[in-house]
Amino acid sequence: MSRQLFVTTALPYANAPFHIGHMMEYIQADIWVRFQRMRGNTVHFVGADDAHGAPIMIAAEKAGQTPQEFVAAIAAGRQQYLDGFHIAFDHWHSTDSAENVELAQGIYRELRKRELISTQVIEQFFDPVKNMFLPDRYIKGECPSCGAKDQYGDSCEVCGAVYGPTQLKNPYSTLTGATPELRTSEHYFFQLSDARCVDFLRGWTAGRNRHGEPRLQPEVYAKTQEWLGEGAQASGKGLADWDISRDAPYFGIPIPDAPGKYFYVWLDAPVGYLASLKSYFDSGKAALRGEPRSFDAYVADPGVEQVHFIGKDIVYFHALFWPAMLHFAGRKVPDNLYVHGFITVSGEKMSKSRGTGISPLRYLELGMNAEWLRYYIAAKLNAHVEDIDFNPDDFVARVNSDLIGKYVNIASRAAGFIARRFDGKLRGGSEVDGATELQSLRGAADEIAQLYDGREYGKALRRIMELADGINAYVDREKPWDLAKDAARAEHLHVVCSVSLEAFRLLTLYLKPVLPQVSAQVESFLNLRPLVWHDARASLPDGHAIRPYAHLMQRVEAKQLDALFEPPATETPVALPGGVEVAPSITIDDFAKLDLRIAQVIDCGFIDGSDKLLRFTLDVGEGRHRNVFSGIKSAYQRPQDLIGRHVVLVANLAPRKMKFGVSEGMILSASHADEKNQPGIFLLDVDSGALPGMRVK
Ligand code: MSP
Ligand code: ZN
Repeated sequence: MSRQLFVTTALPYANAPFHIGHMMEYIQADIWVRFQRMRGNTVHFVGADDAHGAPIMIAAEKAGQTPQEFVAAIAAGRQQYLDGFHIAFDHWHSTDSAENVELAQGIYRELRKRELISTQVIEQFFDPVKNMFLPDRYIKGECPSCGAKDQYGDSCEVCGAVYGPTQLKNPYSTLTGATPELRTSEHYFFQLSDARCVDFLRGWTAGRNRHGEPRLQPEVYAKTQEWLGEGAQASGKGLADWDISRDAPYFGIPIPDAPGKYFYVWLDAPVGYLASLKSYFDSGKAALRGEPRSFDAYVADPGVEQVHFIGKDIVYFHALFWPAMLHFAGRKVPDNLYVHGFITVSGEKMSKSRGTGISPLRYLELGMNAEWLRYYIAAKLNAHVEDIDFNPDDFVARVNSDLIGKYVNIASRAAGFIARRFDGKLRGGSEVDGATELQSLRGAADEIAQLYDGREYGKALRRIMELADGINAYVDREKPWDLAKDAARAEHLHVVCSVSLEAFRLLTLYLKPVLPQVSAQVESFLNLRPLVWHDARASLPDGHAIRPYAHLMQRVEAKQLDALFEPPATETPVALPGGVEVAPSITIDDFAKLDLRIAQVIDCGFIDGSDKLLRFTLDVGEGRHRNVFSGIKSAYQRPQDLIGRHVVLVANLAPRKMKFGVSEGMILSASHADEKNQPGIFLLDVDSGALPGMRVK
C-alpha cells in the first residue's frame, strides 16, 4: 500500500534571509520526501513565510516600508536558496494570505462554538509615544533583585533572577525610550487548561501513528509530560490558558467579532501549513502532480498522513497548541512531529542578529557544491533531538573521502574501459549478477530504506559507504588496469567493469535522496530512467549501452572553506604623511579584499554619553539591518537629516564591540590630513539609482 503524505517544515519568520539552520531543516525534510517518492508514495510538500507579529511590523516601520512590502522583499529572496540546495517544495506561500485568514478565523469560530475561548482583562505595559502595547521583548529596566541595568522583562542576565516585566525597576521602552505605563486591555484566551484539552493532549502525545510508531520521539514525549503529566498539573506548572489576542496596531489577522483585536502570530502561523496546502491545491499545481481531490477532501481524508518537521525550540507550539486547535475545530490532527536539534558552526551557536560565520548564499556564490552540504549534514543527522556541528576540517575530510574517494571514484575507474574497449556496452547475465559484491549491495536495500524512513540518515550513509568500500576492494583485487594489458583477459575485464558500474548504479540509487543532482547526471551517463527504490531488485540487461562519462563531482578545497568563513580582515591603519602623499601601492587583489557596499541610512541618532559618535541603522541589502557607529558627530549635528541618504560602507570589516554595542562596519568619509587645524568630515555621496547592497569597486 502506498502512503499519502502531507509534509511541512516550520514556517520561517519573514524578517531575515535563510541561515544555515533553516537549510539544515529543509535538507532533512527534503531527503525524507525524495526518499518517500522513490518508494512510490505520494507526497505534497509545502512551506510558507511566517509573516505576522510585532517584530516584523516594527522592522518594516524602521525600514520605511509597509509590513507587506517588507515581507515581500524577504520572500522574493527565498527561491535562490531553495533552488540552490535542491529543496523541492511543491509550493511556497505566506501566512499573510486570504487562505490563512479564512482558515484561522474558521478554526477560531469552531473553538468558540465549543466554549474554549474566554476573555480576561489583563494589565500590560503600554508605550505612550508609540501608542501601542509593548511585547515583553521591547521592555527593559533594572533587575528587581540585583539592580543591574538594561535587563529584559523575563530574567536577569547578571544574577539570573526570574520575574515578570512589570516587576522591572525604572522600565523603559526599547522602541522609544519612553517610560511605559501599565494599562488594562481585554485579551482572548484559548482554554487549554480545560479538562477536555488536557485529556485530549495526554492521549495525543502518548499516541502512535498508523504504522504503530510513536507519534513523538521519546525525548519529545518526555518534554510534553513536563507540561501535561499529573505532577505538572498538581504543582501549577501544567497547561495554562493561552493568550491568543493582541491589540492594534498589530500585523496579523483580525479576530472575528472583536474590533481592534488580532490573533497572536503563533495562532495563525501553524494554520499557515494548511493555507499553503490550500493555495497549492487551488492553484491547480496539486492536480498537475496527479492529485485528484480538492483541498477540503484531501485534508479531511483519514488516509493522509500529516507530518511536520520542526526544530526543538518550537515543540511547545506544535505538540500542544496545534493539535488541540485542530482537534477541537473538528479537524484531523498531525500524525507525526519530527523534531531535530540545532546546527552549530565550529561549536558556536548562531546569534539571532548576526547569524553564523557561514551564509548559505555565500556558499553558493563561491561555487561550492550544494550536494557536499546535503551529504555532510545528512551524514550527521539521526532520529533524535541532537545538535550537530558544522566543522570545516571535518567537512573537507568527509566529503572528499566519501563522495569523491569512495563513490565517484568507482565510476571514473570503470567507465573509460567500457567506452574504449567495449563500444560503450555493459555486460549482463549471471557472471555479472552473481558477483557477491552485487548481491550484498542489493540485499541492503530494505535495511537502507528503513534507515531513511526512520530519519537515521547518518547510519544509512555509513552503511552505503561500507558497501562502496566493498566495491573498491573488489576493483583493487581485480585490477582492471592490469587486465587491460592482456588481450586474453578482455572478457574478464568486461565483467569487472560491468560489475563496478552496476554497483555504481545501486549506490547512486541509495544516495539519490541526498544527491538528487548527481543522481540525475548518473541516470543520464548510465542511460537509465529515473531510479526508484524497487530498481534495486532489477539489473541491467546484457549489452546495455551507456554514454560517455563526464566528471561528476569536484573535490572540496580547504581554501574554499577559508573563503566561506572569511576570517575577519585585520585593521592596519595606514599612517599618511602630511600633504597629498599617497600610501604605498597595493595590488588589485589587496583592494578586492575590501567589500565596499552602498548602504541606506534607515535610522541615525545621537548616543547618550558619546560626543564623537553617531549611531546608524543601515540597510545593506541583506534583508536585515546593521548597526554601525561612526565618529562624525562633530560634522553632522542633525542626524535625522541623514535618514534616507546613501553612504559607502566597508561591509566586511570584522564586527567590533564598542562601549555602546557592536559596530558592524565602517562608513567612509573624507577629511583633511591635518584634522586638528582643518576640521570637517564629509560623507561620500552616490549618484541616484544606486541601491543598498551594490558593490563599490
Ligand atoms: N516562525 C516560527 C515557526 C512557525 S511554524 C508554524 C519560527 N521561525 S524560525 O525562522 O525562527 O525558525 C524556523 C525553523 O528553523 C524552526 O524549526 C527552527 O527550529 C529552525 N532553526 C532555527 N535555528 C536553527 C539551527 N541553528 N539549527 C537547526 N534548525 C534551526 O520558529
Ligand atoms: Zn539581577
